[in-house]
Amino acid sequence: MATPWFATSTVYQIYPRSFADSNGDGVGDLRGIIEHVDYLAHLGVDVLWLSPIYPSPQDDNGYDISDYRGIDPVFGTLDDFDELLTSVHDRGMKLVMDLVVNHTSDLHPWFVESRSSRDNPKRDWYWWRPPREGFEPGTPGAEPTNWGSFFSGPTWAFDETTGEYYLHLFSRRQPDLNWENPAVRAEVYDLMRWWLDRGIDGFRMDVINMVSKDVTLPDGPVRPGAEYGDGWPSFICGPRIHEFMAEMHLEVFDRYDRPILTVGETPGATVDDARLFTDPARRELDMIFQFEHVGVDHGLTKWDQQPLDLVRLKRSLDRWQIGLADTGWNSLYWDNHDQPRAVSRFGDDGEHRVRSAKALATVLHLQRGTPYVYQGEELGMTNTWLPTIDEYRDIETLRHYAAAVAVGADPADVLASIQPASRDNARTPMHWDASPHAGFTSGEPWIGVNPNHTEINAAAAVADDDSVFHHYRRVIALRRAEPVIAAGDYTPQLRDDPNVYAYLRRLDDVELLVVANLSSHDVVAPIEQAQQWTDAEMLIGNIGDPAAPTADGIELRPWEAVAWRRARVR
Ligand code: NOJ
Repeated sequence: MATPWFATSTVYQIYPRSFADSNGDGVGDLRGIIEHVDYLAHLGVDVLWLSPIYPSPQDDNGYDISDYRGIDPVFGTLDDFDELLTSVHDRGMKLVMDLVVNHTSDLHPWFVESRSSRDNPKRDWYWWRPPREGFEPGTPGAEPTNWGSFFSGPTWAFDETTGEYYLHLFSRRQPDLNWENPAVRAEVYDLMRWWLDRGIDGFRMDVINMVSKDVTLPDGPVRPGAEYGDGWPSFICGPRIHEFMAEMHLEVFDRYDRPILTVGETPGATVDDARLFTDPARRELDMIFQFEHVGVDHGLTKWDQQPLDLVRLKRSLDRWQIGLADTGWNSLYWDNHDQPRAVSRFGDDGEHRVRSAKALATVLHLQRGTPYVYQGEELGMTNTWLPTIDEYRDIETLRHYAAAVAVGADPADVLASIQPASRDNARTPMHWDASPHAGFTSGEPWIGVNPNHTEINAAAAVADDDSVFHHYRRVIALRRAEPVIAAGDYTPQLRDDPNVYAYLRRLDDVELLVVANLSSHDVVAPIEQAQQWTDAEMLIGNIGDPAAPTADGIELRPWEAVAWRRARVR
């Protein structure tokens, strides 16, 4: 399979609210990003992805858009945006915007019109349904389906004005657009072209595999003990999803003759779904974000965190590497604005923080696919243990807390389940330096700064050649320097080993062995025919002086990760 242009690219995600505040209002903004573009160029990333910066009531921090063709004043102006775009392009990087079109804000003019009367021309732009027969409209059970929303409670909100319900898979302030209506799709494609005409380089598409729904809207199965039914079978990769993506490609991407990056966020997508979305011949998307590996430590819900089972994690990632080897493309990520910090979750954020952050970077970035780095990951930023519920800001977290406490759960238990899992772990401000508020703002930050910024911060990391930051620089640079990383095939090793993550990469006459000890004790990795690697060249390691491979295997210290390179023996 030919390797695509983005095979050597690394993407950096910015959550603008929490990145850098230039005007002291406590919220990050575009001018704050402009001030740090050189830092990102120094890191060596190729593409920046901005979480939403459009006008929004900020019910879900911008994932509720009320105007697709502007910038929220809290982030700046379109002039600021153009300046940022130029400054990114001047440094040879690209800029990708978040596209949130499964739903709009309830204050978007389309929805304001849609809800105004049953015969409004935009009524059909959203999913309106009458109350369930035999129930008092607006009371529990009268919802048109039994589905539970991602943010707790039902997926339907009753609207008094017209006596009907509208669908919202997320918050009630995020009504779902009806993609069955061709006028809706035409508007979406138009706004996408508007941004591409302005010069942006692509889109990250929010929950894009939910835009096609089973129009019969059936009830979902109810798990024992669950309050709501599971609507997933009706809206995850629904009946027309591939038709819609192909149409978008034709109506938008095909009209540009420069490289455009497209990545779809697709909860619940399987390897087979991914092959359909990302097979270049089908002309849909470049790659998707799958969720399997970030679900391995979930119990029945994400709030029920289980100890990490490394074998399960490896099995999952291996399956995706192998499943997309001949068709399609992987995105590679540990972190984003919805996930707890990787070093706290998959690594050791205490004694071995630096080593484990580097080990995680090594095993992920040397795989086949396009890696994504989430702001602060390159510093080894950790989860923040917020001590009271009042310090949380995230709508998903707050609604879960309220719902759980309302049905009688002990508030202390609910808080304890939130602390490691909340999305706010990823959303505390970026650590620029050791000063108060971490150099993020001169004002009062919208969410508390992690107290460990005095130790973990960009200024210290850039100055220290041995930091997590410089390790990220090295793995990012290696992807461009070593074709085997971008294009080689992938063979897992030691699949059942509960401590070691190891794999081989091969391309033509070059072979790479990546071995990492993802545990806090010494191990010997019994790599088959390890003696063949005795004279191999060490490509990258995360601790000085690794032991050379011997016939018995490879000795690894806690969280040690090494990649060896050699000419291939055929
Ligand atoms: C996925 C986004 O990543 C998340 O932050 C958001 O809350 C939901 N989609 C709804 O837009």
